[in-house]
Amino acid sequence: MASALRYSDKVVIVTGGSKGIGKGIVRVFVENGAKVVFCARGVEAGQALETELNGVGPGSSLFVSCDISKEEDIKRLISVTAERFGRIDCLVNNAGWHPPHKSIDETTADEFRDLLNLNLISYFLATKYALPYLRQCQGNVINVSSLVATIGQKHAVPYVATKGAIIAMTKAMAVDESQFKVRVNCISPGNVMTPLWEELASQSSNAAATIKAGEEAQLIGRMGTEAECGLAALFLASDASFCTGVDLLLSGGAELNYGHKSQIS
Ligand SMILES: NC(=O)c1ccc[n+]([C@@H]2O[C@H](COP(=O)([O-])OP(=O)(O)OC[C@H]3O[C@@H](n4cnc5c(N)ncnc54)[C@H](O)[C@@H]3O)[C@@H](O)[C@H]2O)c1
Repeated sequence: MASALRYSDKVVIVTGGSKGIGKGIVRVFVENGAKVVFCARGVEAGQALETELNGVGPGSSLFVSCDISKEEDIKRLISVTAERFGRIDCLVNNAGWHPPHKSIDETTADEFRDLLNLNLISYFLATKYALPYLRQCQGNVINVSSLVATIGQKHAVPYVATKGAIIAMTKAMAVDESQFKVRVNCISPGNVMTPLWEELASQSSNAAATIKAGEEAQLIGRMGTEAECGLAALFLASDASFCTGVDLLLSGGAELNYGHKSQIS
C-alpha cells in the first residue's frame, strides 16, 4: 500500500518556525514524513518545539538559532542543513515582522530600510544560498507574503510594500529558475491568529474588539489557523507540480464583497 505521507524523507527548511504560521508549517511537514530544519531567534521556543516534534514523528525536526536579518546567519542555516542531510527539497521563507501601525508622516526611511532587509532581502538571500541544492533536487521555494500586498492596509506602508515585493520577486524567481525545474510560489495569508497578531491587537485601544473585527473580516467568519497555513504549504510543495509563480490567497474570502471602507468623515 502506498504511504499516506506526502513529503516523506524530503528535506525542508522553514525560517521563523518556532511560533505562529512557521510553527504550523514545520508541524505539518514533520507529520508528513519530512526532515525539517527550522530557525528562529528565540532558542528556548525553538528547542522545545524540536523536542516535542521529534517525540511524535514520523518525520524529524532540527532547530537552528539564526537571525535572518544577518547574511552570515542565513548562510550558516543553509550549510548546516546541507551538511546534515546532503540535500534541500524545499525552502519556506516565512520569518518576518509587522511593525506597529503608523502613518506615513511618522515613518522614517531607516525604519523602511530595516524592514526591507528583514522581510524581503532575507527571503532573497535564503533562496540564493539554497538554490544550488534545490536545483539538484528539482525542489521548490515557498515565500510567505500577505493578503495585504493585494488589498493594502491602513498605516502599514513599509509592511505592505515588503509583502508586495515578495509576490513580485516570487514571479521573477519562478521565471529564472524554471530552467532548473525549481518551482517558486507564494502563500498570502489573511488574518491568522498567531503571537504576532496578538501583539498587534494588544497595541490597539481595545484588544478584544480588534480580535473580534479580525475574525469577522472573513466570509468564513473566523481567522485562519497555523495548521491551515501548513497544509497550504504542503500542497504547494507536494501536489502543485504544475504551479510556479502563483500567489495562493489563504484569506477566508476577506478580499471579497463591498464593506464599510470609507474613512472620509
Ligand atoms: N499572522 C497573520 O495574520 C499573518 C498574515 C499575513 C502574513 N503573515 C506573515 O507570516 C509570517 C509569520 O507571521 P506570524 O504571524 O506567524 O509571526 P510570529 O511573530 O507569530 O512568528 C514569527 C516567527 O519568525 C521568527 N522571526 C522573527 N524575526 C526573525 C529573525 N530576524 N530571524 C529569525 N527568525 C525570526 C520568530 O522567532 C517566530 O518564530 C510573517 O512573514 C508575516 O508577515 C502573517
